[in-house]
Parts: sequence; C-alpha cells; structure tokens
Amino acid sequence: MKTLQVSLAERSYPIFIGEKLLADAELLRAHVPARQVLLISNTTVAPLYAQLLKKAFAGCELVEAIIPDGEQHKNIATASRVWDVLVANRFSRDAMIVALGGGVVGDLAGFAAACYQRGIDFVQIPTTLLADVDSSVGGKTAVNHPGGKNLVGSFHQPRAVIIDVSLLVSLPEREYRAGLAEVIKYGLICDAEFFSWLEASMPRLLAREASALIEAIHRSCALKAGIVSRDERETGERALLNFGHTFGHAIEAVTGYTEWLHGEAVGTGMLIAASLSHRLGMLSDADLKRIGAVLAAAGLDRQPPQCGAARALEYMRVDKKVKSGRVRLILLEQIGRAIISADYADAALDATLLQYFG
Ligand SMILES: NC(=O)c1ccc[n+]([C@@H]2O[C@H](COP(=O)([O-])OP(=O)(O)OC[C@H]3O[C@@H](n4cnc5c(N)ncnc54)[C@H](O)[C@@H]3O)[C@@H](O)[C@H]2O)c1
Ligand SMILES: [Zn+2]
Repeated sequence: MKTLQVSLAERSYPIFIGEKLLADAELLRAHVPARQVLLISNTTVAPLYAQLLKKAFAGCELVEAIIPDGEQHKNIATASRVWDVLVANRFSRDAMIVALGGGVVGDLAGFAAACYQRGIDFVQIPTTLLADVDSSVGGKTAVNHPGGKNLVGSFHQPRAVIIDVSLLVSLPEREYRAGLAEVIKYGLICDAEFFSWLEASMPRLLAREASALIEAIHRSCALKAGIVSRDERETGERALLNFGHTFGHAIEAVTGYTEWLHGEAVGTGMLIAASLSHRLGMLSDADLKRIGAVLAAAGLDRQPPQCGAARALEYMRVDKKVKSGRVRLILLEQIGRAIISADYADAALDATLLQYFG
C-alpha cells in the first residue's frame, strides 16, 4: 500500500492506494471513526462492492443511500433525497458519509456532506480510474443544474481517500480508457519523467496490472495533491488541470453529452491542444508525435465530430475559462510543461479548429 498526504493545514488528509483495501476493516474504521455512517453508492456499484464494505462497519449504525446510476442523477433532487435519509435517521453533526462509486457518486456525496448541518465529514472510496486520479482528490463537490454541469457546489475536502485498485477489474473498458486520459494529462502538464514511464508501461496499464495501476495512481494523485495544496480554489496553477478540457468540452457539448465519455473527449482535446501548441511554435515535432502515439496506444485517438470550426469555437466560449472575451487556453511548451495563455495568435487557433472539426 502507498500513502500520500494532501497538505491543507487543518484540512489535510491522507490518500491510501493499494489492493484489497475494502477488506481492511482496521484501515476503514480508523478513517471513518463515526458511530453513524451513511454509505452512498449507486445501483451498479453497490451490488458489486457494498457488502464487502459493510462488514467493516458491523459495530456501528450504517444506513445506505443507493442512487440511480448516471450523470443525469447528479442533481439537487438526488442530493435532497440523501438529506431526507440523514434527517429520517436523525444523523448528527458527528455522522460521516462514505462515497463508494465513480465521480458522480463522489461529487454528489461530497456536496451532500458539505451542506448537511453546514458540513459533516466524508470519505471517498473511488471505484473508477477517473475518480481514483481526479474527482476524489481536491475537494470540488457539485451537482448539475439544468443550466450547466457542476453549477451548484462547494469546496469540501474529504477526511481520507481510500483507493482500492482491485475494484477496477469490473470497470467497463471504455470507462477505463477514459480514466487513462486524465492520467496521461498529469504527465503532459507537469511531469515529463512520468510521461516516459507511461509510454513504457501502457501495455501493463491496459492489462490493469495492479502494480502498474498503483504506481500510475500514486503518481497522478501526488501531482494533483501538490497542485491542490498550492492552489485549492483555482486562482492560478490549478487551472492547468483543465489541459485538453476546453476542446474536450466543445466535443462533449456538440454531441449532446451522450456519444463521448468525458475522458474520451479530454483525450482528443489534449491532442488538439498539443497540435495548437505545435502550430504556435511552442511544442516540438518530436513531442507532438510522442503525445499522439501515447493517446493512440490508450485508444484515445478518436476523430472529433465534424461540426465545423465556428461551432466548436462557440462551445469553447461558453466554457468557464473565458476571461475578458478571450478563451484562455492551456498550452504545452514541452512534454511536462504547460502554461495558461490568452495571448496566442487567433489565426493559429482557427487553423487548428478547422483541421480537427472541419
Ligand atoms: N470533483 C472533481 O474534481 C471532478 C473531477 C473530474 C470529474 N468530476 C465528475 O466526475 C463525474 C464522472 O465520473 P466517472 O467518470 O467516474 O463517471 P461515473 O461515476 O458515472 O462512473 C462511470 C460508470 O461506471 C460505473 N462504475 C463505477 N465504478 C465501477 C466499477 N468498479 N465496476 C463497474 N462499473 C463501475 C458507474 O456506475 C457508471 O455507470 C462527472 O460528473 C464529473 O463532473 C469531478
Ligand atoms: Zn476531466
């Protein structure tokens, strides 16, 4: 088992990464010491793993809130049902929430915990690769609003994150590869050595070898933990984590959020961002080729929708990263070094959008 710490003064918390951690009652109870525990999971994950988890909480008052599967249920109505369960069971301020699931369950459970009695403690037990390396760490919690994704939320850090890579065996292949996009992202934006490791380790990762997964997740979480400790509320550096996301959001939005998984859109979005960086004279030919090769090896080289450059740009503008009318982009100077820029040649952006979106 590997351990990391997210350093945020009195809100600091550990991340544990290993195999079969759900069977480790001692670890679970040490980090969920409450007498009243609400387990939040969904209809896909709970039948697979909730039983295992429940064993660890045999001695305490454990209540379950199993929500329907799907991003469309990450809303205030579902959060409200969770609060109903907490109230009906007279859960006090000392109660804790345990989130067992992917990013949808984690974001919703975190949001429910942030609001109940002005904030109770919660622990993340992520079950998708995306949640392992991204959504479970950093304290962003939210639900969607009809007006936009993640529009209503709060920063509320978990008390601990317990990552059991054994849970990934049942993850559908597409979801797994989509999670790899976020792993690759860390190498690209801040760690060239990690990127080289990913190039060499892709076959082991695709085979979901536990030791390779523990290493990849540990390094990804360490990079995210460092960024979050320095810039919890995204006033600067944390924005680098949006690399590939502005183009990715355009892909997701153009296709109505149904055909592409988030990570798949981010994978192609990162290639577009790298290609623009190259066109601007920042990124070398060799680096662009390496990026294309790793994304292809991970099966993340899908062709974007041919919606036209103008429409893609329209959707990029609706994204949150617009400042004084210009889309701020995360660009690469080289593998392992990203910058935030609103100061790029529009002609290069137009040409890149034309190349990818037709
Ligand atoms: N808070 C943050 O910082 C942050 C960061 C990135 C993404 N997010 C959010 O995360 C969400 C996406 O998360 P996701 O990609 O994990 O999607 P998800 O939670 O919808 O999970 C994907 C699918 O896999 C299933 N599943 C989960 N674990 C499984 C397992 N072990 N075996 C089999 N099936 C399993 C789920 O039931 C679901 O059908 C979005 O709502 C996004 O906004 C949040
Ligand atoms: Zn993402």
